[in-house]
Amino acid sequence: MSKTIEELIPEYLRGLPVYVPGKPIEEVERELNIHAIKLASNENPLGPSPMAMEAARKVLADSNRYPDGGTLRLREKIAAMHEVSPDEVFIGLGSSELIDVAARVLLGPGAIGLTSKGTYPPFSTAIRANGGSLEHVPMCAFAYDLPEMARAITDSTRIVYLANPNNPTGTAFGAEEFERFLSHVGSDTLVVLDEAYIHYAERAGMPQSVELFRLRKNLLILRTFSKVYGMAGIRVGYGIGAAALVSAMNKLRTPFNVSGVAQAAALAALDDHEHVKRCIEANRVERKRITEEVAKLGLKPVKSETNFVFVETGPEAKAISDELLREGVIVRPLAWMGFPEAMRISVGTAEENGKLFAALGRVLAKHKGKPELTAR
Ligand SMILES: Cc1ncc(COP(=O)(O)O)c(C=O)c1O
Repeated sequence: MSKTIEELIPEYLRGLPVYVPGKPIEEVERELNIHAIKLASNENPLGPSPMAMEAARKVLADSNRYPDGGTLRLREKIAAMHEVSPDEVFIGLGSSELIDVAARVLLGPGAIGLTSKGTYPPFSTAIRANGGSLEHVPMCAFAYDLPEMARAITDSTRIVYLANPNNPTGTAFGAEEFERFLSHVGSDTLVVLDEAYIHYAERAGMPQSVELFRLRKNLLILRTFSKVYGMAGIRVGYGIGAAALVSAMNKLRTPFNVSGVAQAAALAALDDHEHVKRCIEANRVERKRITEEVAKLGLKPVKSETNFVFVETGPEAKAISDELLREGVIVRPLAWMGFPEAMRISVGTAEENGKLFAALGRVLAKHKGKPELTAR
């Protein structure tokens, strides 16, 4: 008897996890009949750049036409900004597309993709979905263990994924540590350095990634318009990598991956320095406030270099998150990312964060006396 379509799906795809996005706010509001705030997907609470929205509106009426499939103006602008060649810039449907397409270029049976435990799950998915074998290195104090990762590289390792700063722990590695790591990586292994949260990082001595790229072309730097530029819903990201890699990636992407509206918005967003500055500053103030307030409530925040805070709660992380949800505050419990005793709180507006503290206070008061929490 002939096989069914289901039986024809390769074994390595059947076992792949589905990416679980944060609950949409409308769904929570409808289910619970409440007004909710979403602090679960590391979005920018201040919205997109007004200049980007204006530019997007202007080109919306041209949407009967296909966009520039080669994204020339945007590539040229990004290339000038980073002083690289436009051939070294790939524009994607969010940086998510680049995470996948890079793996599609380099992986296949027999090739190894390496990443860390406790990092952004699409890295592992990209490795497995493209036929590679996944290797994971444990974290150390909620941060990448780069020396251990360097030791884990073998002759078959074709790609390594690193997020700096990291999601969900919010930690970042510095230039010295990263350069030491790179010195152990051969030219036949691509290092994908995902810098989605780079604008928010405050620690001294962050790696100068583009400078490093100029010295070694086995680096692919990922940036996104979804975070500080406030355009998660518009879906644009970019990568800086060797022209040969970018060219191969362009062969694999769909022909018009980034819409004209998205291209226009991205071009304008890059000029809106005021908006970027305002978002970084607001995040700095509110991130500090969240860190301090959750600590006062008896939880353990990890120092964050991003627009979210990783908080250790003890084994009740899921229960606390569920109760916060019923209070209309959506946060992310992290068992699915490998941290059953933690949750991630995205930085909201001052008002949203105020609501979070009030709700968290009420929820934790209910848990008082439970051994897991009082023991911490
Ligand atoms: C580390 C990291 N990389 C990439 C992304 C995806 O961003 P994009 O919206 O550009 O696809 C995220 C989103 O949360 C992220 O946390």
